[in-house]
Amino acid sequence: MSKGKELSFTLNNKPVTVEVEPHTILLDLLREKLGLTGTKRGCGEGECGACTVIVNNEAVNACLYPAWKVENCSVLTVEGLGSEENLHPLQEAFLETGAVQCGFCTPGMLMSSYALLQKTPDPDDDEIKTALAGNLCRCTGYVKILEAVKKAAYKMKQSEVNEEK
Ligand code: FES
Ligand code: FES
Repeated sequence: MSKGKELSFTLNNKPVTVEVEPHTILLDLLREKLGLTGTKRGCGEGECGACTVIVNNEAVNACLYPAWKVENCSVLTVEGLGSEENLHPLQEAFLETGAVQCGFCTPGMLMSSYALLQKTPDPDDDEIKTALAGNLCRCTGYVKILEAVKKAAYKMKQSEVNEEK
């Protein structure tokens, strides 16, 4: 049996060291080895965005991303975005606007939106559409998702203003 290699990285702001096989894909590492099943497997081919996570501030498709590439990187999954008791503004906004229906696409949508808002805190419609172009939703028709991202941007701006007061 092939021997795995130790991989160390930061996952949701905590250091992690795990053994991985050379061919392990990040999505399998997260879901199967580390039990973080919030990140979904849709197509498994880089087409649907259900598996989107953030690696060093960039949204990536975890279903195509070799696990070894996250060595010394910072990885953020939906589990690290917020908690049930303390939702991230994006999670609040998605719920408030009805942008969550079956919910299967939601973790990926949230993570792509998060990556966008880190770089572009006040995005216009086209910027949101471009950022979410790789995330498919069968249920919502996207209008509510667009609205949710704008609402989250507003909430995040307001909380910054409040912090400055
Ligand atoms: S599961 Fe990764 S893009 Fe569809
Ligand atoms: S809410 Fe069902 S796929 Fe998007």
